[in-house]
Amino acid sequence: MNPFFCQTQVFTRLPFANGVSKMANGHSPLLLTTAGWLERNIDKIVRSQLTTDLIVADPVNSHPKLLDIIGMEQTLPKFDQIIAIGGGSAIDAAKALTALRALDSNASLFKNAVIRATPLGNDFTPSPIIAIPTTSGTGSEVTRWGTLWGPNMEKYSIMHSTFYPTSAILDPSLCVSMPEDVTLYSGLDAISHAMEAIWNRNHTPASDMASIASIRALKRALPMVLNNPDSFELRQQVQIAALYAGYAMGTTQTALAHSISYPFTATFGLPHGFACSFSLGEVARYNTEADSARVGLIADAFDCSLDELPDKFHNWIKEMGVVTYLQNYISNRSIDCIDEDLINPARANNNIRNADEKSAKKIVQASLKALF
Ligand SMILES: [Fe+2]
Repeated sequence: MNPFFCQTQVFTRLPFANGVSKMANGHSPLLLTTAGWLERNIDKIVRSQLTTDLIVADPVNSHPKLLDIIGMEQTLPKFDQIIAIGGGSAIDAAKALTALRALDSNASLFKNAVIRATPLGNDFTPSPIIAIPTTSGTGSEVTRWGTLWGPNMEKYSIMHSTFYPTSAILDPSLCVSMPEDVTLYSGLDAISHAMEAIWNRNHTPASDMASIASIRALKRALPMVLNNPDSFELRQQVQIAALYAGYAMGTTQTALAHSISYPFTATFGLPHGFACSFSLGEVARYNTEADSARVGLIADAFDCSLDELPDKFHNWIKEMGVVTYLQNYISNRSIDCIDEDLINPARANNNIRNADEKSAKKIVQASLKALF
């Protein structure tokens, strides 16, 4: 069993610029962010807080690729801290970049660590990361792993205890510019983390508490923030709910709904948050047969009975307009294009009920039938 643990100091009432001023002065920081944030002059805002030089990396793309990280690292001078401002991709890229630099820029060691999960060793000391999330979903600001992608959208994870960001600054003012689709799919990623941490073999009492708080908050606040995107108050509620989901998932890792998601992202480009959430109602139904008490925790948080939970969840996501977004990528026949890779053992083996390709396919078929 994994202990409930997180070594990141989390600030929820600190304007991000003040945080940068406190934590980065005296260092040689590298700013890692996205093209969108550079267009909004985030580098100038960060630089205005510093008396030391700021190195600015090339922008990070969504779904950061292994080879892109290797290419980027070769262009960068020495740094001793990374300020990652952006969604999960920026924070995950920071973890990968600091790992590669700590491996003395040895690309083959890095590739082995990412692709073959070769242990990184005890003397591995990457530079610290200040994580400043601008989306509310991945939880990467409080976890010890990052996601990287292969050339054909193969998904890889890098994991090490030193990848916990040293600090995470949650400033809701950075979330108000999040577009509707990103608000929706990142919030759905968060509720997927929270639900998957409950129907998970690695659950702990503390991860359960974090998950339940997250589900309750997201059920109420996510639809509200979609209608009130400029509300700092609601942005903060969703941000904190995603943080709790990150705490829970940081202990348990994810489970069957995430396993099912990967071929949908790889094959159809379906954004991760939609891919890992469309099956949650049916995964709940599947897992109820194995452990109704565990899934009952989710039903309670959703203010419904166990029997009602799948339909209640489907209605909740339908009311937020999820189906319209899904239709841009998939249809109710999409499962016919996916062959035998719905089970990723590293995820599916965490699920409280064993699942194989056949049972996962049935879950997908039932989910698509319920939604389309
Ligand atoms: Fe996720």
